[in-house]
Amino acid sequence: MKVGIVGAGFVGSTAAYALVTSGGASEVVLVDANEKLAMAQAQDIAHAVPFARATTVRHGPYEALDGAGVVVLAAGVGQKPGETRLDLLERNARVFGQVIPAALAAAPEAILLVATNPVDVMTHIATHISGLPRHRVIGSGTVLDTARFRALLGARLGVTPKSVHAHVVGEHGDSEVLLWSGATAAGMPVERCAAQLGHPLTDADRAAIDEGVRRAAYRIIEGKGHTAFGIGSGIARIIAAIAGDERAVLTCSTLTDAVAGVRDVTLSLPRVLGSRGVVDTVMPPLSAEEETALNRSATILREAATGVEQ
Ligand code: 2OP
Repeated sequence: MKVGIVGAGFVGSTAAYALVTSGGASEVVLVDANEKLAMAQAQDIAHAVPFARATTVRHGPYEALDGAGVVVLAAGVGQKPGETRLDLLERNARVFGQVIPAALAAAPEAILLVATNPVDVMTHIATHISGLPRHRVIGSGTVLDTARFRALLGARLGVTPKSVHAHVVGEHGDSEVLLWSGATAAGMPVERCAAQLGHPLTDADRAAIDEGVRRAAYRIIEGKGHTAFGIGSGIARIIAAIAGDERAVLTCSTLTDAVAGVRDVTLSLPRVLGSRGVVDTVMPPLSAEEETALNRSATILREAATGVEQ
C-alpha cells in the first residue's frame, strides 16, 4: 500500500522509517511545507532501504499523494518543555485547515491517520474539515500510551510487554485512563500474575506505573526536546492493521456517539482496525473509578472540541 505522510518533522519521518523497517508500505511519500526538509528526510530514509524492506521512499508536492491508501497527518508544532498537548490546539487547527483539503484533493480515497497533537481534538477537527465518514479519520490516540503501559507492566513483572494485555483509553494526554481492572498477563489478572512471578504489585508500584505512563512525554521532551520512536512505531502498527485488513484491536481515537455519558466526542477506545479503517469499537468493562475517570477525560475533550467548533 502507498502511504503519504504530511509533515516530515520528527514524528512524520520516524513513522516513515518505521514503515521501511517493518515493511508496512510499498511506497512512502513525504510532503512538507519545507520541501528541503522533506527531500532530506526521504533521501536519508531511502538509504536505509537496502538494510530493510523493499520500499520506495520519496518526497513531493501534495499531488504526489495520488493513490495513497493512508495519509498520515503529522504537520504542525509539537510540545515545548512545560507545554501540554492542549496548548497546541489553535496553532495546529489552522495548519489542518490548509493541509486536509490539499491532501484529499490528491488522495480522495485515503484513510486519514492523525498524529498531530492534541491528537484527539485534531482528529475531531479533521473529521469535520474532511467531511469523511468517521471510520476513515483515525487518531493515533492512546496507541502509544497503551504501549507505554504494557512496557512498564512487562518490566515490573519480568515478562515481555508482548505478553501483557492492558489498555489506556480516553484522551492521549493528561486525563488518560489506565484500565487496571482489565489488565492481564499470561491469561490472568496482572496482580495475580505478578504475585505468582514473585513481584507482587503494591499501590506504590501502581502509582509509579501510572505516573510513568501519564508523564512519559513530559520527561522525554525535557531530555531530548521531542518524542518520536514510540509514536513512529505506533503509526506503522496502525497502518499495518489497515493494509493487512487485520481486524487488530488497537486503542485509537475516532468520533464516537457517546462515551461515559458524553456525546459526540473523539477519543480512544479499543478499535477494531481493517481495510476500511475503524470497523468496530469495543467497550471494555470499567470499574466505578475508571468510569468516572473516563467521563472526566471525555468531558475535557468535548469542551476542547466545542471551543474550536465555535
Ligand atoms: C507523546 O506522548 C508527545 O504526544 C507525544 O509522546
